[in-house]
Amino acid sequence: MSTFSAPKGTYDLLPPDSAIVLAVREALAAPARRAGYGYVETPGFEHTELFSRGVGESTDIVTKEMYTLTTRGGTHLALRPEGTASVLRAVLQANLHRAGNLPAKLWYSGTYYRYERPQAGRYRHFSQVGAEAVGAEDPALDAELIILAADAFASLGLTGVRLLLNTLGDRECRPAYRAALQDFLRGLDLDADTRARVEINPLRVLDDKRESVRRQLAEAPRLRDHLCQACKAYHEQVRELLTAEGVAFTDDDRLVRGLDYYTRTTFEFVHDGLGSQSAVGGGGRYDGLSELIGGPPLPSVGWALGVDRTVLALRAEGVEPPVPATVEVFAVPLGSEARRVLFGLVTALRRAGVATDLAYGERGVKSAMRSANRSGARFAVVAGERDLAEGVAQLKDLESGEQSPVPLASLVEEVRGRLAPPV
Ligand code: HAM
Repeated sequence: MSTFSAPKGTYDLLPPDSAIVLAVREALAAPARRAGYGYVETPGFEHTELFSRGVGESTDIVTKEMYTLTTRGGTHLALRPEGTASVLRAVLQANLHRAGNLPAKLWYSGTYYRYERPQAGRYRHFSQVGAEAVGAEDPALDAELIILAADAFASLGLTGVRLLLNTLGDRECRPAYRAALQDFLRGLDLDADTRARVEINPLRVLDDKRESVRRQLAEAPRLRDHLCQACKAYHEQVRELLTAEGVAFTDDDRLVRGLDYYTRTTFEFVHDGLGSQSAVGGGGRYDGLSELIGGPPLPSVGWALGVDRTVLALRAEGVEPPVPATVEVFAVPLGSEARRVLFGLVTALRRAGVATDLAYGERGVKSAMRSANRSGARFAVVAGERDLAEGVAQLKDLESGEQSPVPLASLVEEVRGRLAPPV
């Protein structure tokens, strides 16, 4: 029988790369945690209808990309293609919105599933870190979230992330714009699929990347000319707050996003080193989503940052985020008695907080020392029968090559002292 491989569009994470992914997740989430966002975790699957209603019946995500299944009991479920609808569902279900103290600020980290055509940076199973602020309308909240994301990318040492900013208006001004855009689009030379999109979701046509379509869109009516006073003023405040905090952005009134729930502020973080899948994160305001999934009005805003693409962006810039050393000490026993003694010492070192590994299996000293060097450990602890008879082990600094005997009884303290950074 041939061996299995991971399904198309997925990949495994293994050391040492997996350590970078953990560091990226941590770095993306840290700014949100510092801003009062609490951790939320929701199931990997939900009722399909949550997404078809929430994300939008006509979106690519719902029409083409969801992994759906029907349980033996006849329930329609979908693997989650995104996190926002689930988080809002969880807030409503737990009645967090009734507890006062809004906005409810939540962050999450998880894997999501979309049946997309796989290519570099686009997977069928991918990972996001997200943050949502539910139940408040305040331009400072939109600005806060955007700043947190910008700070998260910067903290990793990325310099090539750009912020695109737009507003999509609200239920006051968008319908009239939508109608004006539809009138314009109906007069263009478009294929059948795109003509159908004009009738269902005309704003998405603005996002068409094909040159033949883009050319015809040059004269399309602009949303900014149709915004109501309230949306204009709101957007201006978001822009001012970002500017005041030194967060650079480009106004992009063609930025529509692929999910239907957005109102007002929308944004995307892009990286030019990633080819066509350039978005490393995106989000915006979704003031109407709660009502779409059966809740009361709850104006909200949030984002999700792509972990996989952030790792690719780091690679593209040649930046290596600091990852904690996996092993600080590597023990090399010579003989069975030493194996027993060092096993105890290794356990004691670990209990004292020192990351420690041991050469397992009956191996010669050469092969064991090779493992010690490969482990990345700072120190090797080597002991044979003669050392044990003297009550010592050899502590070898793998950087300098220096080696000296240390009494077994004080070895844990000695190693801890040498590993601690000088004060
Ligand atoms: P999204 O733009 O669909 O938004 O996804 C956010 C990020 O997830 C993207 O910018 C990208 O980095 C990553 N991503 C999406 N699809 C894939 C894929 N197939 N492979 C690799 N990475 C991918 C949302 O999901 C919204 N829930 C964001 C949001 C939160 N809006 C408001 N709150």
